[in-house]
Amino acid sequence: MRLADARKDQYRRLAKDQGYRARSAYKLLQLNGSYHILKKGSKVVDLGCAPGGWLQVATKEVGQAGKVVGIDLKPAEPVAGATVLEGSIENLNMLEKIAGILGGKADVVLSDLAPNVSGVWDIDHARQISLSTIALGFARQVLKGGGCAVFKVFEGDMMNEFRAELKNSFGRVLLSKPSASRQESSELYIVCLDFKQ
Ligand SMILES: C[S@@+](CC[C@H](N)C(=O)[O-])C[C@H]1O[C@@H](n2cnc3c(N)ncnc32)[C@H](O)[C@@H]1O
Repeated sequence: MRLADARKDQYRRLAKDQGYRARSAYKLLQLNGSYHILKKGSKVVDLGCAPGGWLQVATKEVGQAGKVVGIDLKPAEPVAGATVLEGSIENLNMLEKIAGILGGKADVVLSDLAPNVSGVWDIDHARQISLSTIALGFARQVLKGGGCAVFKVFEGDMMNEFRAELKNSFGRVLLSKPSASRQESSELYIVCLDFKQ
């Protein structure tokens, strides 16, 4: 078995053993371990939340004093402590609904959004950056000053332009590749701290 496949299996097995719905939960656990994004009492919005691995991590980290809202095109099984909205992040009504559920602005916006992949590299990279750009617009509307955000991207020529755009809105913009993200994948996460209102 290749090393990358062994690692993939390791996280899949761990997720099964530890009751996470998706191995992607470990990506958020590792990002949070490094950057301390999720705090007790935080208000969190999770864009592209299905099947719910990140919701499970976020609800545990913010505790009962926190609030977690997820949005996805696909239905997700309920997660205790989280509200899940079914629909597109492009639907402007979502902003109003989220403000109502959170009772104000968010401390954290997480985006693990992924488009349907075509298998054609250029097209998939462009679709991913386009989704992340919509997620950034969303984050600009819902985040509190000083808040943070995480955006999934695929490495490619449009990534640097997106990073530059992020620097207009956040004091610190850091690239990260959690070890739970497959090494052979060009997937990266951009962790953004100190939102400038
Ligand atoms: C990689 S999955 C997220 C996995 C999730 N973080 C977890 O741990 O369970 C990406 C999700 O983005 C969602 N998505 C893609 N485009 C979307 C859009 N415009 N609005 C809402 N969700 C979207 C997909 O339906 C998919 O469920």
